Amino acid sequence: MKILTIESTCDETAAAVVNENLEVLGAVVASQEKIHEKYGGVVPEIASRAHLERILPVIAEALGRAGIGLQDLDAISVANTPGLAGSLLIGLCAAKALCLAAGKPLIAVNHLQAHLFACRLAYQEDPFPCIGLIVSGGHSNLYRCSGPIDFTPLGTTIDDAAGEAFDKVAAMLGLPYPGGPSIQRAAEKGNPKAHAFPRPMLNDPDRMQFSFSGLKTAVRYKIAGTGKVDYANVHLSEKEMADIAASFQEAVVDCLVGKAVQAMKKYSMKRLCIGGGVAANARFREKMNEAADRYHFKVYIAPLKLCTDNAVMGAIAVERFKAGLFESLDLDISAGLVRDPQ
Ligand code: KG4
Ligand code: ZN
Repeated sequence: MKILTIESTCDETAAAVVNENLEVLGAVVASQEKIHEKYGGVVPEIASRAHLERILPVIAEALGRAGIGLQDLDAISVANTPGLAGSLLIGLCAAKALCLAAGKPLIAVNHLQAHLFACRLAYQEDPFPCIGLIVSGGHSNLYRCSGPIDFTPLGTTIDDAAGEAFDKVAAMLGLPYPGGPSIQRAAEKGNPKAHAFPRPMLNDPDRMQFSFSGLKTAVRYKIAGTGKVDYANVHLSEKEMADIAASFQEAVVDCLVGKAVQAMKKYSMKRLCIGGGVAANARFREKMNEAADRYHFKVYIAPLKLCTDNAVMGAIAVERFKAGLFESLDLDISAGLVRDPQ
């Protein structure tokens, strides 16, 4: 069995070919990072136009790397939820057109389930059932996952997503987009205890929710005071910048790790799967692994290139193929809301 997987939910245009053993026969990711960098974040309209230019060459390249043509495929899958509406539409339209042209069945992929499935791909064992934690630019979500395509939302963020907080704080510090890697680099030389930033929601173990906007405001006050903000007139030394970055990163990591541990305890689970771009953060990985040792659960975190958006994690389509879950060609996108996990 060979499935073409297509991913265009946000600002990466990606395609891969996978088989029933979850082996990757060919994979391509075309990043739009450089395009959006100057805006300090993803501009949805620009993202969808860039997807439109790249989607067919990216698919052709993935098929080429796999050494196959459209006719050799058993199905075509696409992430149709959640994401930016315009971006999702480009991937979905490409998938439908190819299905129609080649007479192949269509499979829908939930992008958040795919992020968790990256853990299944990265380890030689089945991590389900588990608690799933998605930490990306658009989501900070907790799930109870009884299987790869079967998950129940437990909670989400009440304001910003973790990655969004990284991106916004990086912008305040004048660091380049995407903010997560920039903050991580700046934090390497800083003292994580220099500033006691708040850790919202941690004192309420029964509430499976995150909140990062108060933390973000605390950082803003530290950088520019409580009055009207004029970042052009803020001049931080390298040491001040590093200390703020390290203290902020530590606070976000404590919130994510702390809430995940609370979920593990509340639902008496033994395995935790983590996906999404923020899971690439080195300090987060370190503290999450320490927590797993301390509280005796197993943590699965995908390797870096499977954490950020890619089409390889779309191999979850193999599970849907096996379960006979195919879609008609009037399948639509569902952009979804940050506060409203699918
Ligand atoms: O999963 P992803 O690639 O795209 C979304 O679906 O959102 O996540 C992107 C987010 C961005 O906010 C980026 O700043 C963050 O992941 N990120 C990181 C790191 N690498 C990427 N955040 C913290 N530390 C990192 N090393
Ligand atoms: Zn993602």
